[in-house]
Amino acid sequence: MPNYYKFIQYLRSEGIGGLVSKVVRILKRKLFGSEGTIFLKADSSIISIPVRENTNVRIEFLNVENCDDFERIKFFAHVHVSDYLAHPQRIVALVRECNEYIGYACADFSSPHTIHGLGDFRLDTGEAWIGPVFVKKQWRGKGLNPLMVAKLLNKLREAGIHTIYTCISGDNAASLGSFRKMGFKEWGRLGSESEMLNPLWKKLTSTAASS
Ligand SMILES: CC(C)(COP(=O)(O)OP(=O)(O)OC[C@H]1O[C@@H](n2cnc3c(N)ncnc32)[C@H](O)[C@@H]1OP(=O)(O)O)[C@@H](O)C(=O)NCCC(=O)NCCS
Repeated sequence: MPNYYKFIQYLRSEGIGGLVSKVVRILKRKLFGSEGTIFLKADSSIISIPVRENTNVRIEFLNVENCDDFERIKFFAHVHVSDYLAHPQRIVALVRECNEYIGYACADFSSPHTIHGLGDFRLDTGEAWIGPVFVKKQWRGKGLNPLMVAKLLNKLREAGIHTIYTCISGDNAASLGSFRKMGFKEWGRLGSESEMLNPLWKKLTSTAASS
């Protein structure tokens, strides 16, 4: 039942084209192996936000008034409003166009940060995690993810954050493109042959596979 629900939610959000691409990605993964999960890192002072033709959007932060709207658009079933609301070290930027909420980006500087399906990631002082991020399909490619990240960065810098991490599935070209464009660089990869050499083994303090 929950899987059926997830399937319907996915179809509603991504449409039939999105669903077909997802199935193709899963089949490719099964046939040719996974491209792994790519961990990206950036110094908060070098992140640059590409300027785009501006749409009429506003950025808000999650609060008691907009938390129901966040709940409605959150897309990822593992994201829970209660994990973010009123948590001083977790921030969610929401992007809004007129009365419609069209995307969000989460940031966390509490440690460890739990990466859904992967495990716990140790964040040292001055380090934060960005993600998950989501923009409604018809609004993608307009620089809204970078815009939200820019707003999160202002808050993160105020909190003394100098280093930001995120991780993205290797076959998620849009998300990788979006973060690379801002200056994030690959720092480690799970699922690669040399994974034991990854610096991220020092940071992934427990993995979902071992728990
Ligand atoms: C990842 C995501 C948040 C990026 O948001 P965004 O606001 O579209 O980001 P950007 O505007 O920086 O666009 C990133 C790239 O997406 C690609 N893109 C453009 N239009 C697109 C569309 N309609 N659909 C998918 N990707 C598109 C482009 O390659 C673009 O790069 P470019 O500006 O160099 O052309 C968005 O694609 C999304 O919500 N995806 C589904 C959820 C997800 O995968 N989240 C990431 C995992 S945590």
